[in-house]
Amino acid sequence: MLAALGALLCVCCSIEEGSAYTFRTFMGAEIAATAISSSAVVQRPCECRALCRDACVAVAIRRQPPRHFHCSFTDETVADATTNLTVPAPDSKVFYKRLVCLPGFTLVDNVGCIYVSTAALNFTAAAASCPSDSQLFTANFLIDFNAMRNYLKKTFVVPPNKFWIGLTRLGNSTTWKWFGGGTIEATHPSPYWNPRDPNENTDCAMLYFRPSTGFFYDVADTSCAGQMQFLCKQN
Ligand SMILES: *[C@@H]1O[C@H](CO)[C@@H](O)[C@H](O)[C@H]1NC(C)=O
Ligand SMILES: *[C@@H]1O[C@H](CO)[C@@H](O)[C@H](O)[C@H]1NC(C)=O
Ligand SMILES: *[C@@H]1O[C@H](CO)[C@@H](O)[C@H](O)[C@H]1NC(C)=O
Repeated sequence: MLAALGALLCVCCSIEEGSAYTFRTFMGAEIAATAISSSAVVQRPCECRALCRDACVAVAIRRQPPRHFHCSFTDETVADATTNLTVPAPDSKVFYKRLVCLPGFTLVDNVGCIYVSTAALNFTAAAASCPSDSQLFTANFLIDFNAMRNYLKKTFVVPPNKFWIGLTRLGNSTTWKWFGGGTIEATHPSPYWNPRDPNENTDCAMLYFRPSTGFFYDVADTSCAGQMQFLCKQN
């Protein structure tokens, strides 16, 4: 069984470069025992990485004398994986899987691959203009949202500035819906919304930067007909 697996894995190693993933590496770390979802013993370290597919978020590789390697996989999708999932282990390396970004996209840590448009369009046109295999930015967790804001604050520093994101009002309610599912409430205090928003009885949302009036790329509502740049996230 292991021999057959090994034969298959040799192929996996050679195609690894072309796979959808690259890995971010940490030396001297091991996945916390409570987070390990499965493990395997292989002959080459690249086989551990090749086996980290689908739900696998990270793999730790440790030499297993005399000439094998022990891989520990984790499926836990904690955003701050480096602090949550690793413990010091001098003889081990942890590889975190991350997407390879399509041309024109930038890898933003804890967010994914982001495309920032140069064109300024209304909301509908913007949503239809995200490059293929991407959609207007959505945040599945607060940590993604904060990472996106921090990236924008570091990268687009000239006010005023604003970008469409994939968030729209649900009917007439205080509930706002992310593209592809998930909602946030427009109630305060909010880690998403500017303290003064939503305030226009409009249905589309932007990240707005204007420090002089208290906007630091927080969410604000605005008319969907407005024209602005937009943020797309690779699926
Ligand atoms: C992950 O680590 C952070 C900071 O160390 C902590 O605040 C958070 O609760 C942890 N999350 C999980 C799911 O363990
Ligand atoms: C939505 O809310 C606005 C103002 O809050 C109100 O004028 C309008 O009638 C409401 N529309 C519906 C369909 O409830
Ligand atoms: C948005 O822009 C498109 C393309 O310019 C235009 O056809 C459409 O009418 C606009 N929609 C709104 C709501 O302004």
